[in-house]
Amino acid sequence: MFITFEGTEGCGKSTLIQNLAQDLRESGKHVVVTREPGGITVAENIRNIILHQSMEPLTELFLYEAARAEHYKKVIEPALRDKKWVLCDRFTDSTLAYQGAARGLDTKMIIKLNEFATEGREPDITIVLDLPVEVGLARAKDPNKFEAEGIAFQNKVRKAYLALAKKNPKRFEVIPVEDVDPEGVCALAIHAIVEKAQALKAQAAKGKKK
Ligand code: TYD
Repeated sequence: MFITFEGTEGCGKSTLIQNLAQDLRESGKHVVVTREPGGITVAENIRNIILHQSMEPLTELFLYEAARAEHYKKVIEPALRDKKWVLCDRFTDSTLAYQGAARGLDTKMIIKLNEFATEGREPDITIVLDLPVEVGLARAKDPNKFEAEGIAFQNKVRKAYLALAKKNPKRFEVIPVEDVDPEGVCALAIHAIVEKAQALKAQAAKGKKK
């Protein structure tokens, strides 16, 4: 299973991923927790460049995709081949939301670059943690340059995630998190993952029969 986690700043992705990984490991699963941009030395070095310096939107896009190509090939693909569960903090949908919707770069170009960087592999399940951006920004510690972009920028990102989820309800699950504690968010995520995993299994079995 390849599960990605998305959302605007301060939505609580990292806490959820930690809690989920612990639950899955306790139930005997092999779990790899990773993140974008990053997850491996080359990509972590690119992360340091992207998050703390201002640059042209297109430069930023190529750096995210370069980091992703390295991360996918060296971390995600081998783990999936070994039948591990991969929990990834941000992935291709972040690029569509941030560089596409918020920075205004062409979505079709981003879809193509995402495909190249990931050899066309999409996540099996994408969990979006949704909350008003003002609440998230107030929670976020240690702001990076995206947090400093302000509320209008973050609202474009939020809207983009909700639109992506609406377009692809099979892969996406949106969890509203404003009034839910971390245990509650984890329980909702587990419920969604179990349901979606069953649907994927049923779909695969149907495909085999044909
Ligand atoms: P991070 O500090 O990890 O933020 P968060 O905890 O909110 O995930 O920084 C990652 C930042 O990079 C985040 O602001 C979103 C941004 N980003 C993009 O703009 N495009 C991308 O493709 C990815 C993966 C992240």
